[in-house]
Order: sequence, then C-alpha cells, then structure tokens
Amino acid sequence: MRNTDAVPTLAETRQRLERTGQPQLLAFWESLDEVRRGELLVSIARLPLEHLPAMLAQAAGLAKPSAADIRPVRPYMRDHPEADRYRGIGEDLVRRGRVAAFLVAGGQGTRLGWRGPKGTFPATPVAGKPLFRVFAEQLMAAERRWGVRIPWFVMTSEANHGDTERFFEDNRWFGRPRADTMLFPQGMVPSVSLDGRVLLEHAWLPALNPDGHGGALKALRSAGALDHMQSCGIEHLCYFQVDNPNVRVIDPLFLGLHVAAPDSSAEMSSKSVLKRDVTEKVGVFVKAPRLTVLEYSDAPREISEARDASGAITYGEGSIAIHVIGTEFIRKLTDHPLGSVLPWHRAIKKVPFVDPATGTRIEPAEPNAIKLESFVFDALHEAEGPIVLRTDRVEEFAPIKNATGEDSPATSKAIQCERAVRWLREAGIAVPLHANGQPDCVVEISPLTATGPEDLRANPPTKPIARGSETLI
Ligand code: UTP
Repeated sequence: MRNTDAVPTLAETRQRLERTGQPQLLAFWESLDEVRRGELLVSIARLPLEHLPAMLAQAAGLAKPSAADIRPVRPYMRDHPEADRYRGIGEDLVRRGRVAAFLVAGGQGTRLGWRGPKGTFPATPVAGKPLFRVFAEQLMAAERRWGVRIPWFVMTSEANHGDTERFFEDNRWFGRPRADTMLFPQGMVPSVSLDGRVLLEHAWLPALNPDGHGGALKALRSAGALDHMQSCGIEHLCYFQVDNPNVRVIDPLFLGLHVAAPDSSAEMSSKSVLKRDVTEKVGVFVKAPRLTVLEYSDAPREISEARDASGAITYGEGSIAIHVIGTEFIRKLTDHPLGSVLPWHRAIKKVPFVDPATGTRIEPAEPNAIKLESFVFDALHEAEGPIVLRTDRVEEFAPIKNATGEDSPATSKAIQCERAVRWLREAGIAVPLHANGQPDCVVEISPLTATGPEDLRANPPTKPIARGSETLI
C-alpha cells in the first residue's frame, strides 16, 4: 500500500482476512480505541497476505545444491598481471562519477547487543570511532583523491531509521555535504506462526521483521534511490555491510575487474577471502553450476572439507559480503510483482506475541515462528558472468558480529591494529615490537591520513611511535 492509497474499511479488511485465512489479526478490534484501529487497518493493508502462502512455500522448498553439482570457483587475485590496467579503469569510473557507495545497516544486531544502530558502535582501537564515521572518512578520502563527490546510500530499518538519522545529524553528516547521503528504510515482512498465521506483536500491530539484506534491492527501487542514481549517471554500487570497519569501500581494482574482466558482464561481482581452515563457519562461493554462496550449514562435509592434490582447500573462497552491483542489473531484478526476484529463506525463531484466543502476551520458550528474509548474494545466481576477487583477510575483513569471542569488538580491533602495523612497516616506519615479534603498541590509522602504505610513505607520521603507547595516526 502506498501512502496515497485509501485505507480499506473494516468490512473490506475483514473480507480480505477471511479470504486469506488471517482473521486473527482483528481479534482485539472491539477493545481498541479509534487511533489504534486506524493503525491496525493501515498495517494490515500493507501486509502481502495474498502472496504469503507462496512465499512460505518457496522458503520451505528451497533446493540446496547436491555435492555432485558443485564445482570450485577460480577467483581473480589482487596481484593479477594486469592489475594496474584494471585499477586505472576503476579509477576512471570513480572520477567520472559513475560509482556510489551502498551500506546496508538495517539488521537487528542481536548478537552484538548494542543499544543503538550497529553503525553507532565505537569500533576503532584507539579513537573508538563509530562505524558510520569510519566509512564516511573513507569516502571523504576517496573524494579528495579523485576529486569527485561520491553519493552514499544507507539502508536502515523501520526500527533504527530515526536513531540512525539523528546520529548522522548530530555528527553533522560527518563533514560531508548533507545532500550526498541518502538514508532509507528497508521493507518489513510479517512473522508467522509455524502454521502460517501472521502473529500479533500487540493487539493493534502485526509482528514484522526486516526482509533481509536482499531487501536492499527492492528498497533501493521503492525509495526512489535507484531512479535518482541512474538520473545522475551512477552505474555501479559498492555494496558493504555495517559490521566491517576494514572494508575498502571504494576499490578501483575491484571496480575495474567488475566492468572490464573478460568473463564479467558488470552485473554483479564479489570479494572473497580464503577460508582459514575447513571448519571455519563461513559461506563459500561455488559454481552449482551458476555462481552461488553455499552457506556453511548447507555444505555437505565432502564439500566443506575437500582438499586438492596440493592440500589446498578446494572450496575455500569465503564470502565477506562485499559486492559491486550494476544499477541496471538492480532494475532488472526488481521488475517483479513482489518487488524482487530473490527467493525467500526462512528461519525458525522465538517471536513474542499476543495470543488471539486469550489476549495474553506469550514469551515463547521454544522457537514458535517463521521469519522470512532474502539474501543479497542470491542475486549472483541471476547475474551473467559474475566474478570473484580474492582479497587479503587482514586488509579487508575485521567483522564485529558477537559481543565476545570470535568476530567480536576485541578481535576486530586486533585485526585493525594488525593492518595498521603492516602498513607502517611496509612504508618503512618503525613500530616497537615485543621480543616475540608482536607490536608493543596499539595503532589506529585514520582513513583521512592513509588508506594504504603508499599514503604513509608520502606522508609519514611526524613523531615516532612510543613503546606501549596507544597511537592515532
Ligand atoms: P547480519 O546477518 O549480521 O544480521 O547482517 P544482523 O541483523 O545485523 O545481526 P544479528 O544476526 O541480529 O546479530 C549482515 C548485514 O546485513 C544488514 C546488517 O545491518 C549488516 O550490515 N542487514 C541484515 C540488513 O540491512 N537488513 C536485514 O534485514 C538483515
């Protein structure tokens, strides 16, 4: 339902709910005041009830590739013999304003448990900069380097849009022109009981969940962002997630390969890192026969543990959720009655709800609900000639997913510091070390100072790094 559409009446809504098998959504109608009744009618009008059985059936029946159909992918490498030529092509695209950045930040971040949007999390090891600032500074560095304004699209969710916008506002859009950042919320889908009934979060509100990072494509289109970017001549979006402070948001080599590699159609390209070991829980790029991300949980053991004759992991290209996506490709994928061709996946979760029979709020002890979502990497399956660029883990991947342990703020800070030390040493700048060779300091390099060792070589720090210090360069 669009904002301009008339809200269906109670009688029309009742009929629709009877027809679609969802009458429980009006269970508390009599007890609601006028305002809540109005809200409920609007919420119900927005639900894709007619499509819900097909969405649920699709999610339940999603076929997993069988081991016999799976082949390894051959990634491009950063030290490709023609890397300089591709880098030049990518730089030219950036300079000509053909490229925008696209951050997906609509997730719920439940594992991290931070009180605000994940992008507000203080992520860097010395200055404690929030993730949004890290990305904004990278964009400013790229804008200075190539003398261009790079539009930044940020997808939020209904739950965090207001807080995200306030944070950008409070931080004066991180020193970039306000008009160069566009925030828009992603879509929501109903959370349903295991027998397909939409749950009520409150007596006047159906339970909803964000439609997954795959919802990004649909949201770009429905928010008008796709029209806007195409009218400005933007042809390629650099897609990244909110949880990775080491992402190289604008990467000319990646862009150049995306548009000019002989086997690429410039529809969608992805970055990988080599799996640490066969047990690492990461989705991997495989051919089945089209390029697909095979999730760790879906990978048969003979695939996840396979090694070639030299002992290397056969299916080792781990997905780090960094892509370049062509804007024309997004238009093609979103020409669909449901907003996007991406398939629905389901997760069985615990979702609190109001019992329509008794009016009691239930906090389920066991998973009771189906949450539907779509995944952006499923778009690879639709792309002609997608390519994969293997990159270095420390250089580009320092994820913050969990509050503690693996992929936590602590491990991310350690990787950020490791990269900073590596850049300094590559630039010939002394870093104090412990006897075991580990750095005896914590270092953070602002993207505004350097985005690689070459910037440090050209513009070295003025003071030596002190033993045991925390140094921001
Ligand atoms: P995750 O898969 O890590 O999910 O998202 P999450 O919701 O952020 O975190 P958990 O699972 O609740 O702990 C990966 C990226 O996709 C975005 C997230 O913001 C993050 O950048 N995302 C995820 C969305 O934008 N929308 C979604 O519906 C889901």
